Amino acid sequence: MDIKKDIETRMDIEQFTVTFYEKVKADPTIGIIFTEKVSINWEKHIPLIADFWETILLDNPVYKQNAMESHFSLNRIFPLQKKHFDTWLYLFNTTLDELFAGEKTNLAKQRALSIAMLMQHKMNSEKNDIL
Ligand code: HEM
Repeated sequence: MDIKKDIETRMDIEQFTVTFYEKVKADPTIGIIFTEKVSINWEKHIPLIADFWETILLDNPVYKQNAMESHFSLNRIFPLQKKHFDTWLYLFNTTLDELFAGEKTNLAKQRALSIAMLMQHKMNSEKNDIL
């Protein structure tokens, strides 16, 4: 039987972060954003994303940036649509379910969903402001 453990450490977070972005880069719907539209320094990006999740999941406030900001800039060069958010969430949830199970894992999926909804809402409001 395959009993999965919950997300407990920084190493667990780094593991799902790396696995998630491997899937993201290979994805036909959103991969191009991360491989061509934006030039990402992965050596910095992975630890930064891990900081973000460590702040949420391990109650350790190491992430000091504004996560919305870079998505507004992205939205101006590559308008983010529902299908991009759906794909992002699908890959995030699939990654977590493959690797972990438990309360923190569920919390990660819930927070990803609520942040994605909020982000999508803000992107739409911004679009409507311009029109
Ligand atoms: C359509 C969905 C999404 C796309 C295409 C996307 C894409 C990106 C890209 C390209 C960057 C790098 C920006 C840069 O370095 O200039 C980034 C950064 C980031 N993303 Fe997303 N993202 C999405 C959704 C989300 C969601 C739902 C979350 C949180 C749950 C999230 C969390 C972050 C964080 C924390 C950063 C680092 C921001 C910083 O501190 O500079 N993203 N995203």
